[in-house]
Amino acid sequence: MAFTIAVAGKGGTGKTTVAALTIDYLARMGKGSILAIDADPSMNLNLALGVEVEETIGSGREEIVGGIRTGQYNLGLDKQQAFRLMIQECLVETEHFDLLAMGRPEGPGCYCAPNHLLRQSIDALASSYTFVVIDNEAGLEHISRRTTRDVDLLFVISDPTVRGLVAAQRVFELVAELGSRVHRAHLIVNRAPGDTNGHPQLAPELANKVAELQLPLLGVLPQDPAVAQWDVLGRPLITLPPDTPLRQHLEALLTQVLPFGQDGRQR
Ligand SMILES: Nc1ncnc2c1ncn2[C@@H]1O[C@H](COP(=O)(O)OP(=O)(O)OP(=O)(O)O)[C@@H](O)[C@H]1O
Ligand SMILES: [Mg+2]
Repeated sequence: MAFTIAVAGKGGTGKTTVAALTIDYLARMGKGSILAIDADPSMNLNLALGVEVEETIGSGREEIVGGIRTGQYNLGLDKQQAFRLMIQECLVETEHFDLLAMGRPEGPGCYCAPNHLLRQSIDALASSYTFVVIDNEAGLEHISRRTTRDVDLLFVISDPTVRGLVAAQRVFELVAELGSRVHRAHLIVNRAPGDTNGHPQLAPELANKVAELQLPLLGVLPQDPAVAQWDVLGRPLITLPPDTPLRQHLEALLTQVLPFGQDGRQR
């Protein structure tokens, strides 16, 4: 069974950034195969990872559902097989990880049966990897739609604002309603200003709010000028130098929660 990590949170808080750098960290640790899933219809995990996507699951599903409507899949062609083939066509394989872009969500009409088949096929694919990392869209829909299923580790990303923390709390509430489907959920506050030594700090008001809302804070990530520079230049985030503050602070957090330590030993 794959160890599944999902990243959620309000728009623009750094979900894709954290997902991409987590994937890169896992790849460098060399602890097994990685499936990256871009579950955001606006699709930019591939840009952060520096790979091109030609086909998405969303457009593939439209084609198959069209085929079912016109009777194409009633003539002995197995639907499950059609979904499996379509997923294989969408899968972008690289040396260090594979990537699946979900594309647009289901359109109008009843997609229950095809979605069920599709989910089964994606689950079957995902279970053949050691790690699955899911970059979610902003908002709570993916959690309430239960597309964030059976997650070992959920990172809820917030900006360093009270409003951001309140939005994060809503995600944790929803996750609690899902019960054991999410094994562990942590808050990460991103883009925090540094103290005089450059260490990212939570303003006292925010630290109080975290305590008041009883948010499970894993840690704080710095506002990193290198990330802004990479954005301006349109460079994939995974090419950020290893000593950039964001990478270093994220990696320190990952070692606390991943099923192996920094030295790569299995925990
Ligand atoms: N720690 C950081 N330091 C500097 N810039 C950052 C940092 N984290 C994220 N950014 C920048 O903030 C912007 C939003 O980040 P990102 O795309 O990762 O957020 P997101 O939550 O995935 O957004 P969306 O909700 O649109 O998917 C990007 O331009 C990114 O480069
Ligand atoms: Mg994003």
